[in-house]
Amino acid sequence: MSSIPQADIPVRVTRAEKIADGIHLYEMRRPDGGDLPAFTAGSHINLRVPNGLMRKYSLCSDPAARDHYCIAVKREDNGRGGSIYLIDNTREGDEWMISAPDNAFALPQRGDNFIFIAGGIGITPFIAMIHALKNDPTKKFRLYYCSRTPEMTAFREELSAPEHMGRVVIHYDGGDPSKALDLWPIVEERKNREHIYCCGPRGLMEAVRDATGHWTPTSIHFEAFSEADARRPDDTPFKVRLASSGATIDVPAGTTILEAMRAAGYDVPSSCESGTCGTCRTRLIAGEADHRDLVLTEAERSSQIMICVSRAKTPELVIDR
Ligand code: FES
Repeated sequence: MSSIPQADIPVRVTRAEKIADGIHLYEMRRPDGGDLPAFTAGSHINLRVPNGLMRKYSLCSDPAARDHYCIAVKREDNGRGGSIYLIDNTREGDEWMISAPDNAFALPQRGDNFIFIAGGIGITPFIAMIHALKNDPTKKFRLYYCSRTPEMTAFREELSAPEHMGRVVIHYDGGDPSKALDLWPIVEERKNREHIYCCGPRGLMEAVRDATGHWTPTSIHFEAFSEADARRPDDTPFKVRLASSGATIDVPAGTTILEAMRAAGYDVPSSCESGTCGTCRTRLIAGEADHRDLVLTEAERSSQIMICVSRAKTPELVIDR
């Protein structure tokens, strides 16, 4: 769990390679050749893009290998410029600053069966998970990987290898929602100690959440690869009052409550910062929230808020901070 992510580990890019249409893989190592901090499957790092932006990327290398990390970056033409800068400017030998790995999407100790559902570049954490599970015969997984076309499918060759036969399904929809993966046969039955992990576009995660109402919430895990839903073009400013001190904080359009609190000097714990992990759960005392997370149940929404993504429908919210 972190407050403001620090990117204080220098690394050198030792491989920069296009692996699918619009997707590039970057391998990085310490300039002195030493080990990088250990990580568990599902972890991400924060990367300070040389243009100044801080971006979060899931690690997709084998957690057992300490001498390098890998990330895969998709060119987001409608993003804030981090991925475009990286893809257009990164060369082998470049130096980056990254944070230590953090994990808001970890595999549980008490889990034997895993259903992985990936959409697009949301495949990246599952590559590390498959590495982590491959040598443990007590753990079973099935991966459903949704992509538009074979050309846009990162890691397609690796995942089509004979060793994954019967447990990896790559589903191509050509970008047509009517050809989307049918989730119900996948999630209808639940085995003992089974967990669902989903990473992908918002629509896919919402479809998984809607199809799994009969699962216990602690068995469903989401990771967002984009913060897009925390910011929408029609967002408006509002105020947040902190019940403990009575202080009022302005939350401008384009800024999250979490960011506004930090800018005002408050140290607020967070991890995913995409409304999926639950770390920033805060009691909502007054006002009506515009909920944008995948954590809270309908029943919880009147009294709690995820301040990393959700906003206000009323001019002011009062929260228990
Ligand atoms: Fe993960 Fe807010 S930090 S839900």
